[in-house]
Amino acid sequence: SRDLVIAPSILASDFAKLGQEVSDVAKAGADWIHLDVMDGHFVPNISFGPDVIRAMRPHTDKVFDVHLMIAPCDPYIEAFAKSGADIITVHAEAGPHLHRSLMAIRALGKKAGVSINPATNESDIEYILDTVDLILVMTINPGFGGQKFLPSQIEKIRRIKAMIGDRPIDLEVDGGVNVETAPLVAEAGANALVAGSAVFKGDGLEEYRANIEAIRSA
Ligand code: DX5
Ligand code: ZN
Repeated sequence: SRDLVIAPSILASDFAKLGQEVSDVAKAGADWIHLDVMDGHFVPNISFGPDVIRAMRPHTDKVFDVHLMIAPCDPYIEAFAKSGADIITVHAEAGPHLHRSLMAIRALGKKAGVSINPATNESDIEYILDTVDLILVMTINPGFGGQKFLPSQIEKIRRIKAMIGDRPIDLEVDGGVNVETAPLVAEAGANALVAGSAVFKGDGLEEYRANIEAIRSA
């Protein structure tokens, strides 16, 4: 099975010192950096865009895992590719042409991810499995960090793991991941865990390191 990945979400960091936060969490043992882009339309919150990601890019060489919670997404894919994203994930619910969006990401030389909201059935991604490098299962309703994990999604993770079969696809989980919920989603088949508030609680590198290690060993 695929390597376990811990992807701290920068959404929970101190935005007044983003470069330092990215660098600290990378040194603290993050495998990927998860970057949550929100447009105030697809989700009821606004975060940051490609220029801010470009500004963070020189502060680490870790994989930039960009989670687009925007609709439409197609007009902005190229800007995010150029900002330094390595993985670009779009929501299945964000537009009528998911396959086209995924092909556009791959055409730019980036890894293509698809995310589904808690209310979305896994069957919505059944026919694009050969077009994705990553599937992101939301275990909260997207828009805000610090929400409570939805256990109803564990069965969905298990079903998607079975759908993936032996395809080279990362199965990522986002929302309410902490030392209690990480073992549940890993057991169901997830190999990449996003964690915002559970990593950035505390202040600075050593606390981030302890938080990441606690999730990894849980
Ligand atoms: C929410 C974002 C998440 C969020 C997770 O819409 O997609 O990545 O930062 O935060 P926690 O880990 O605090 O639930
Ligand atoms: Zn996210």
